[in-house]
Amino acid sequence: MEVVILSGAEEIGAVAADAIADLLHRKPAAVLGLATGSSPLAIYDELAARCEAGAISFRQARGFTLDEYVGLPADHPQRYRTVIEDVFVSRVDFAPGAVEGPDGLASDIPAACAAFESAIQAAGGVDLQILGIGTDGHIAFNEPGSSLASRTRIKTLTRQTRIDNARFFDDDLDAVPTHCLTQGLATIMAARHVILVATGRGKAEAVHHLVEGAVSALWPATILQHHPHVTVLLDDAAARRLQLVDYYRETYLSKPKWQGI
Ligand code: F6R
Repeated sequence: MEVVILSGAEEIGAVAADAIADLLHRKPAAVLGLATGSSPLAIYDELAARCEAGAISFRQARGFTLDEYVGLPADHPQRYRTVIEDVFVSRVDFAPGAVEGPDGLASDIPAACAAFESAIQAAGGVDLQILGIGTDGHIAFNEPGSSLASRTRIKTLTRQTRIDNARFFDDDLDAVPTHCLTQGLATIMAARHVILVATGRGKAEAVHHLVEGAVSALWPATILQHHPHVTVLLDDAAARRLQLVDYYRETYLSKPKWQGI
């Protein structure tokens, strides 16, 4: 696990966009894993700017989102399908239908989850997965207690996650759905490269467990310690509880540029 502490969201966006640009250069038909939420927004802004400038193209690429609320009406602005369309997909040049997500309005939820897993596999698996992390240590919506071997399924959101996300629902906790469909931890672990972004003091405890804690279903993101290629991009505030913070900074500063992240 590589920990990179940067000056803030803008630099995080640029470093992650460099890795995605490299991937698209090597493999134009790459498969991207796309998180929603606020953490990846700077990455999407940077990618949209580079695409507009003609520096990168998503024309042959595919994308899969991580999760979806269950039961939000098709026209609800917080449906993750709509959110990812607004913040990223509509701003770049993906082919129509190239980005898919789990279907939170499916009448047969287990079948919809299985179909989503099959679609990821049929696309050849995720080359690069962008992740955020919840204050309770969730990745996608794998809440504390999630099976470390889980696949896409329905989950109940914790009260903490619903409180955290109420800001997207006019601060109305009751409007935040109680259930979601989410890629499982094993689904995420199958991605070839994972870039996790965390900014702000509120993420410091979760980041401390993710990077330096014991692997435990209580802090689901810790499963990433078993992944061979994870890059954790942080600002100072999110890194404030890390014990080896000086080592992480020195390592990144002295890293040969050709290595990328
Ligand atoms: C969103 C997702 C969640 C978020 C996490 C952090 O698709 O899977 O795990 O990444 O809740 O959210 P933000 O980035 O809004 O703090």
